[in-house]
Amino acid sequence: MRYTRRALAAFAGLVLLTTAAACGSGDEDSSAATVEVFTWWAEGGEKAGLDALVSRFTAECPGQQFSDGVVAGGAGINAKQVLTARLAQNDPPDTFQVHAGAELTDFIDAGKVQDLTTEYDSWGLRQALPEGLVEDLTVNGEIYSVPANVHRANVVWTNPQVLSDAGINTAPTTLPAFLRDLEKLRKSGVESPLALGRDWTQLMLLEAVLITKLGADKFSGLFTGETSWNSTAVSAAITDFDKLVDYSNADRDALDWPDAERLLIDGKAGYQLMGDWEAADLEAKGFKAYDHFTFPGNGKVFQWLADSFVLSTGAPNPEGTRCWLGTVASAAGQQAFNAAKGSIPARTDTPTEGFSDYQLDAVEDWRTATPVPSCAHGSACSQAWQNAVNSALSAYSTTHHSVTALHKSLAGAAKQFIKQDQN
Ligand code: BGC
Repeated sequence: MRYTRRALAAFAGLVLLTTAAACGSGDEDSSAATVEVFTWWAEGGEKAGLDALVSRFTAECPGQQFSDGVVAGGAGINAKQVLTARLAQNDPPDTFQVHAGAELTDFIDAGKVQDLTTEYDSWGLRQALPEGLVEDLTVNGEIYSVPANVHRANVVWTNPQVLSDAGINTAPTTLPAFLRDLEKLRKSGVESPLALGRDWTQLMLLEAVLITKLGADKFSGLFTGETSWNSTAVSAAITDFDKLVDYSNADRDALDWPDAERLLIDGKAGYQLMGDWEAADLEAKGFKAYDHFTFPGNGKVFQWLADSFVLSTGAPNPEGTRCWLGTVASAAGQQAFNAAKGSIPARTDTPTEGFSDYQLDAVEDWRTATPVPSCAHGSACSQAWQNAVNSALSAYSTTHHSVTALHKSLAGAAKQFIKQDQN
């Protein structure tokens, strides 16, 4: 019998696939259905958090197996692009990580996620979550995602040894005092005292300065149309942001947040503004001698963001995905996950055993402080708006360094993306 070249190639492919399946099975249960969980939690404290959730899922969902759809890159900078392409090709993962708020609304409006209202009721989630958070997950009375946590964005992390070597022993409470300390640190020989990374990390810094300059209400209004971007207060904030950037590392645009964090760990910088996933990550990397303070001038403002999980439209394994979401929704799942991730549970009835002192303080702050959303992490801005702001920052930081040009681009983006009905 003669075989065509095509038939031989197909046969060779089949042999390879069969062999790969046999070899790849390892200790996996080949009869189990898989649930692909798409996140950007690839290493350090982020991976530790995901692993803790996976352990609970494995225990609570027999016959279901976790499949890791991770795409590395802080704040989902790469994952979001891959996800968009997959959804456009009707190749959705079973579930994906998405920020509660404006970013989730994009997916709801596009019909990419399924209604979970019935599950919410059977899991008792409406009672267990803060009311405001449920509102951020709801569109037209239907609820579309399960929040795993609440993170805080407006925190400055420090290397106390580097600071005390320069004679800095107290945390600054105002922006001018912070700028003075940065200068002092530089004069002591730390050339780039403020560790900074690429675009979205710069946006976090800018947002923190805007909170200081405008206060909580006016800051939140920047994203609803109630506060104008064309004000002298906004331009003063951008000028102060520019001064802060002057104290940062020149290679910032090439660095993700863990690379900037490395500068802090290695004593090449004294400060880094970053969300409170940094605490868990520093611990996971064995650097325990860190400290933190709320960004100077932010007072009792808690800039929040929340990671949530959805049931994708067309999910290959909806039953297994519901079990994953049930794990994320459970108090035990939230305890295990948050103890490792550094965030606080979205559920207010979650036991806090295993939480660090920082996390216990954050639980209390979340109850009592004034919440504002984050644009860099999707609670305030849609993805398209984030992309526009990130490109404006990238152009400022890599090319023109002009405060006026940056202000113009930011105001232009707001004009483009603030929904008409919010004006
Ligand atoms: C996510 C966090 C994550 C951080 C850095 C944020 O957008 O909400 O879970 O740790 O990005 O990657």
